[in-house]
Amino acid sequence: MISQINGGAAAAVVAAFLVFSAHLYFPTTAHLYCPATPLLQGLSDLTEPSFPFCPLTGTSTCTDHQYGCKYNPLCDDFPPDFPPPDTPALTVFCVDLNGCCDFTTVQAAVNAVPNHSRKRNVVWINKGIYFEKVTVPASKPNITFQGQGFDITAIAWNDTAKSANGTFYSASVSVFASGFVAKNISFINVAPIPRPGAVDAQAVAIRISGDQAAFWGCGFFGAQDTLHDDRGRHYFKECFIQGSIDFIFGDARSLYENCRLISIADPVPSGQRSITGSVTAHGRVSEDDNTGYSFVKCSIGGTGWIWLGRAWRPYSRVVFAYASMSDIIASEGWNDWNDPSRDQTVFYVEYKCTGDGANLADSAICSEA
Ligand SMILES: *[C@@H]1O[C@H](CO)[C@@H](O)[C@H](O)[C@H]1NC(C)=O
Ligand SMILES: *[C@@H]1O[C@H](CO)[C@@H](O)[C@H](O)[C@H]1NC(C)=O
Ligand SMILES: *[C@@H]1O[C@H](CO)[C@@H](O)[C@H](O)[C@H]1NC(C)=O
Ligand SMILES: *[C@@H]1O[C@H](CO)[C@@H](O)[C@H](O)[C@H]1NC(C)=O
Ligand SMILES: *[C@@H]1O[C@H](CO)[C@@H](O)[C@H](O)[C@H]1NC(C)=O
Repeated sequence: MISQINGGAAAAVVAAFLVFSAHLYFPTTAHLYCPATPLLQGLSDLTEPSFPFCPLTGTSTCTDHQYGCKYNPLCDDFPPDFPPPDTPALTVFCVDLNGCCDFTTVQAAVNAVPNHSRKRNVVWINKGIYFEKVTVPASKPNITFQGQGFDITAIAWNDTAKSANGTFYSASVSVFASGFVAKNISFINVAPIPRPGAVDAQAVAIRISGDQAAFWGCGFFGAQDTLHDDRGRHYFKECFIQGSIDFIFGDARSLYENCRLISIADPVPSGQRSITGSVTAHGRVSEDDNTGYSFVKCSIGGTGWIWLGRAWRPYSRVVFAYASMSDIIASEGWNDWNDPSRDQTVFYVEYKCTGDGANLADSAICSEA
């Protein structure tokens, strides 16, 4: 059924999603996570035999969700008079999987945003899982993706470093524009979770390469290399970030506030101390740069025996302040990426953190890994 909207490739990714969903965790409390059900519920809605009553294709001119085409009961509870008319400051582009408004894919709505628009363009995305690969080009600044809740609205694809010719191109969503904002939506890469030793299995959920991006109440789901926090100034508030190895990586200058970080790295038998993951891999190249990741009042939980960060580049810089950390954090905390000279140049700090995994010194500055 999904193929009627997004094509055969998308229908295939649904199969990958169903496998991955066994590894999709939603937060309950800071240290307790349970398998997801709301997104799966959204999926079963999509595969109802009656769907879709009123297929709007890319070429359809039917935009009236109630009367312009055959009656579609899936649109009964769709807000009337939506989207609202344009104002000088704002245009809303409406996306709904069931064809209840102008666009059925997120990319089609982004394509409709004019280049170098002087206003904010809101892509309003109704609940559902959008199986597509999305790019926001540099020519389209100041776009907002407004979802209906990160547990019921998501964009998912399943490229890997191998299928996309490089980790950087594997992202389900790539943002090259400045001023990008996302609220209450999830970004997911559902490629198979790499087994130890797997090659080219990195699978990015989102790549953020534009300046001044902000994320409120968003989810980021993947395993190795989930969140490519690539470059520019970025802000994350009350977000949920899941991964295994280097699951927040890149060379951006970012603040993460009140976020929940969940590791799905391989569990290690008690008593055994082999590393199975790392939260961050910050890639600052030079002392003269001003990039780094700051985590304030975040929590870290999940599985594995993992580092807080490893030094992807010599001047890697990461601070965790007022974090609560479960006992999955390896006692040495950080790693120099097998380059002892980086011990002299990285800047890694834990400040007033709590929990079994925290270094309880008031301010633990480890420029030695
Ligand atoms: C994505 O999922 C489809 C359907 O399961 C599969 O055929 C394809 O190989 C997957 N791609 C990757 C890179 O795993
Ligand atoms: C928008 O900008 C891109 C990149 O500069 C260009 O390729 C494209 O043709 C432009 N589209 C329009 C409608 O002007
Ligand atoms: C994007 O929004 C910012 C802040 O409102 C504004 O200063 C900037 O001019 C906008 N960019 C464009 C290309 O309109
Ligand atoms: C996000 O969703 C929550 C829960 O539905 C709601 O309370 C909040 O206002 C939403 N925030 C934004 C920015 O959309
Ligand atoms: C990856 O590179 C190969 C060989 O150059 C090419 O055939 C293929 O189309 C590329 N795939 C993508 C997704 O760019």
